[in-house]
Amino acid sequence: MGNFPGGGVYFEHFYLSCLAHASYMAGSEGVAVVIDPQRDVEIYLEEARKNGLRIEHVIETHLHADFVSGHRELADRTGARIYVGARAGATFPHVPVREGDEITFGRCRLGFLETPGHTVESICILVTDLDRSPDPFAVLTGDTLFIGDVGRPDLSPGHTPQELAGLLYDSLHEKLFRLPDEVEVYPAHGAGSLCGKQISSDRFSTLGRERATNYALKAASRDEFIHLLTDALPERPGYFMRDAEINRSGAAPLADLPPIPALDAYEVLRLQERGAVVLDTRPAALFGAGHIPNSVHIALSGQFAAWAGTILGLELEIVLAAEDEDRVSEARTRLARVGIESVVGYLGGGVEAWKRAGLALEQVPQISAQDLARLAVEQSELQVLDVRRQAEWEEGHIEGARLKPLNQLARAMDDLDPHRPVAVHCKSGYRSSVAASLLRRAGFRHVRNVVGGFDAWKSAGLPVSTPDPARNYIRTWSRAKVEAYRERRIELRGWPVNLTSYRLGDRFHAKADNISPGATLARTSASTREEAETLALARAEELLAETQRRSV
Ligand SMILES: [Fe+2]
Repeated sequence: MGNFPGGGVYFEHFYLSCLAHASYMAGSEGVAVVIDPQRDVEIYLEEARKNGLRIEHVIETHLHADFVSGHRELADRTGARIYVGARAGATFPHVPVREGDEITFGRCRLGFLETPGHTVESICILVTDLDRSPDPFAVLTGDTLFIGDVGRPDLSPGHTPQELAGLLYDSLHEKLFRLPDEVEVYPAHGAGSLCGKQISSDRFSTLGRERATNYALKAASRDEFIHLLTDALPERPGYFMRDAEINRSGAAPLADLPPIPALDAYEVLRLQERGAVVLDTRPAALFGAGHIPNSVHIALSGQFAAWAGTILGLELEIVLAAEDEDRVSEARTRLARVGIESVVGYLGGGVEAWKRAGLALEQVPQISAQDLARLAVEQSELQVLDVRRQAEWEEGHIEGARLKPLNQLARAMDDLDPHRPVAVHCKSGYRSSVAASLLRRAGFRHVRNVVGGFDAWKSAGLPVSTPDPARNYIRTWSRAKVEAYRERRIELRGWPVNLTSYRLGDRFHAKADNISPGATLARTSASTREEAETLALARAEELLAETQRRSV
């Protein structure tokens, strides 16, 4: 993006598609600040060198949960000070930031706002170019305000999503939106990030534009905003809490990771036998044509690291299978960016070497949308799975398909028959190939991946089932009148449960959320509040009992 238009302050925007993550560098008179650095910090050092800048300040807008930040390594390598919200409880040397604090270097002034909500310690940074005006012209909003969305409010342990959503409402209305409309907005994430629900693919905006278009700012009251944000929270990937903890103490430098060895096919086989997972990062077509049995497929091309964190977690031993060594090291860096450091080797010579060793490969047939349409008619036993998110499903889906969002698939196979054929699709074919590999690992014998996914299905003019109007009504209820909202915290079988209920028209709706995994357990409606709440709690209790039985 280069310099701020018309000003003397240097400004650069770094965007990492793999994690939909934005970081920033601002500089003036030889000094630079880096905001929300990614884990591999070479790019900032290089950028600073090119522009004759010395990085003296590193700022974290909050303890990120979706990636491991490079703040500590960057500070170690430059001598910079790290600034974090005072409520973070950070355990590395840092400057705790409070409302109204400022840093000035050269013609650049940074002012801090404490904006709890996405997390309790979240801060926003006002940027002023003193050559242009004494007032800030930009605000770096972290995950407090995105373009078209706001941060999810379920990432601070010790607070319910409802409490955090309330704080976020106050931060937005009492702090950010007290600023003039023309102030530019630069958030920490873009489209596809798991930190929001429907972030735009734009890279920056203005407060005025967000005020006019951001759905979350249309809520008519604080209560409605809380509802809007917490009613259909996307599931939180398991690695989020770990990453936030790593960031609280500061990750080890990337260079400290040991080099990963090339392994021959039999060594890989032995590692697999002791529980290691082969992670195949090649494009779906190559994976489909021939892969190592039991491998997990996550292609390097998409949001690779986020899916790896979600599907594999941070603990499993991983062996990489890729086209070449460049891709091996690219995969390794990207995995480290979410905190996966357990790569124990890669298959030297790739899948070809496996074949040369006389070991068998497996296939996942890749079929077109038209093939799927034909098979669905010809094979009554075919199970069609849609692994997109609920919101994508509700905008239209294939009649007869079953929704199994990819992040939940591994725990949601019980009602599928591994002996019957399966065809799996997503939006474009990326997530469905991951799903196909998970189904194969779970013992499903006949799995096909739909190339081009639902997009190809629609382009082929095949019939799309639209959501029923009642569902749509509930989805957009924020524009309807919700009354008598009530929230309670209840202990159920030793689990903390958040029970919310409200009246919408002449029905009462109740919802039970399990606070620690952040998952919705039950959603019910009835003609009285008591009935709706009783039903929700009974269903929640059943599910918790089931969970306890399984974990014994
Ligand atoms: Fe975040």
